[in-house]
Amino acid sequence: MTGADDSGAAGGDALERGRLFFAGECRFMLGVAALAQLPAAGPPEIAFAGRSNVGKSSLLNALTGRRDLARTSNTPGRTQQLNYFELGGPRLGTLYMVDLPGYGYAKVPKPQVEAWIRLLKAYLRGRVTLRRAMLLVDARHGIKGEDREIMSMLDEAAVSYQVVLTKIDKVKQSERDGLIARTQTEARKHVAAYPDLMVTSSETGEGIPELRAALAALAE
Ligand code: GTP
Ligand code: MG
Repeated sequence: MTGADDSGAAGGDALERGRLFFAGECRFMLGVAALAQLPAAGPPEIAFAGRSNVGKSSLLNALTGRRDLARTSNTPGRTQQLNYFELGGPRLGTLYMVDLPGYGYAKVPKPQVEAWIRLLKAYLRGRVTLRRAMLLVDARHGIKGEDREIMSMLDEAAVSYQVVLTKIDKVKQSERDGLIARTQTEARKHVAAYPDLMVTSSETGEGIPELRAALAALAE
């Protein structure tokens, strides 16, 4: 169960299209620190949301096969604005990918965290071109309180989202199936959540081709 079942039953063609799409051009567009700086609504957007340190920036790098497209760090709170990346082109379609600041990390000064969370909630709730939010969950920790808060908000705003387990390489083989099943059961209780999870590792590349296929299918 890598999510392949769900997202267009990622067959050979879909996987190949995903590979091609992510092998193409990818450029950093801009960083957004306030809603007023958002680019004009354009192509479909995919946002990468999740707790600090869950691996949002690493997943963007793994998807695009670029080591340092998005800045990653051991220190939670690395990403401090909405970072826009443009992918694709006229032939394969265009997609904006948006790397969001993390939530749920206590060590960054509180007013700053509150400002990020306000911005990211306003973005998630109000962005008309947001096609799907990928909600990243650390496979070692499972869905946490702050994730539930974001999930309920997305349910209420009717924003379609999909849970993506990250760092699956860190989970023991014996615990893997139970963890995936539990997370899936919880995701299925949410109206706006995709019923199937994606299971990924930016370290080993597990689930990356399937995620590429799912995202490429959303380009226009
Ligand atoms: P913020 O920007 O602070 O919200 O963090 P983030 O969610 O962007 O996390 P980031 O990609 O910076 O990764 C945080 C740490 O987790 C880094 O040390 C990464 O190397 C590590 N990491 C990310 N993905 C994986 C993975 O799939 N497996 C393993 N083992 N480590 C990972
Ligand atoms: Mg980051």
